[in-house]
Amino acid sequence: AVPNRIFSGIQPSGGLTLGNYLGALRRFAQKQDEGIESIYCIVDMHAITVWQDPAKLRHATRELTAAYIASGIDPEKSVLFNQSQVSAHAELGWIFNCVARLGWMNRMTQFKDKTAGKNAEASSLGLYAYPALMAADILAYKATHVPVGDDQKQHVELTRDIAAKFNHDFGVNFFPMPEPVIEGAATRVMSLRDGTKKMSKSDPSDASRINLTDDADTIAKKLRKAVTDPEPLPETAEGLASRAEARNLVNIYAALTNSSVEAVLGEFAGQGFGTFKPKLAELAVSVLSPISTEMTRLMQDTGEIDRILSRGAERAEAIARPILDDVYDIIGM
Ligand code: ADP
Ligand code: NA
Repeated sequence: AVPNRIFSGIQPSGGLTLGNYLGALRRFAQKQDEGIESIYCIVDMHAITVWQDPAKLRHATRELTAAYIASGIDPEKSVLFNQSQVSAHAELGWIFNCVARLGWMNRMTQFKDKTAGKNAEASSLGLYAYPALMAADILAYKATHVPVGDDQKQHVELTRDIAAKFNHDFGVNFFPMPEPVIEGAATRVMSLRDGTKKMSKSDPSDASRINLTDDADTIAKKLRKAVTDPEPLPETAEGLASRAEARNLVNIYAALTNSSVEAVLGEFAGQGFGTFKPKLAELAVSVLSPISTEMTRLMQDTGEIDRILSRGAERAEAIARPILDDVYDIIGM
C-alpha cells in the first residue's frame, strides 16, 4: 500500500479565523504529532486569484507562517513552505489544466459561491482554474490524505478525478487517489451573525468571526453579541437540529475542548446562553491567546521566518522534483 502522506494548504489572504484554526491549523498539528509525514503550504498562488496588495501579501505570508508554528506545526518535523517558491506547483497545475474538463470545473460550487451576486465574467481565469492548481499542490507530493474543512471536500474529489484521468489517459498507475480527511466537531464553523454562512475571513462583518489575533475583550464581546435563541441548551444533540446558531456555539465549545457535543450538553443542558457564552469566551481566550502571543513574538524576527520558509521550500522541492520528472517522462516531454 502507498504510505500515508498528508498535504494541506491555507491562503495568505488576510487574518485567520477560529474556523481556520479549528478546521485546519489545529488538526494539522495533531496529524503531525501522530507521526504522519506532513507537508503544509502557504498557498500564495491561490491568494492571487483575487487581487492582493503586494506588501500585504508579503506580510500575510509571514503571518500565516507564524500562525502555523504558533499552532504547533514544527518546521523540523513537518515540511512548511510557501507555494510560489516551489515551481512544481505551477508546472503540474498547467498540465492538470490540460487534464481537467471544462464540465468538471463548471460544477465547482465554491466558484459559484465566490462570484454570487457579482459579474462572474469579470473574475480571473485563475479563480476558475484554482481547483486544478489545488490538485497539483496535492499530487506533486503524491499525498494520500488531505485534512480540510467541509468547504474543500468537492475540490479533493476533483483532485481524485484528475488523478484517475491522468492515470487512464497515459495508461499508468502513477498518482494515488487522495482522500479528504474531514473530522471532529468543527468541520464547518459558522458565522456568529448568521448560522447559514460559514465563518470566513472574507465576510465584510468583523463581528461575524473570531480572528486568531482578537484580544480577550473583543472575543468576549463578539460571543456576547453572537446570534442565538432564548431557549436553554437541550439534553441531546437532536435538540439542536433546527437551532443552527446554538448548535454552532456548542460545536465550537466541543472542538475547543477536544470533546463531543454530547459531553458539552451533559455539562450545560438546561442552562441558557447567558451562562454558556461567558464560559465559551473564557475557553476561547485560553486557547487563542497563547497562539496570538506566540505569533507576535515570531513576527518580530521576519528574517528567521523567511529562513524557515526557504528551508521548507528546499525540502518540498526535493520531494516534488523527482515526481515532476516522472510526469514529464510519462507525457513525452
Ligand atoms: P478561507 O476559507 O477562510 O478563505 P482558506 O480557503 O485558505 O480559508 O482555507 C484554509 C483551510 O481552513 C481549509 O482547510 C478550509 O477548509 C478551512 N476552513 C476555512 N473556513 C472554515 C470554517 N469556517 N470552518 C472550518 N474550516 C474552515
Ligand atoms: Na476555503
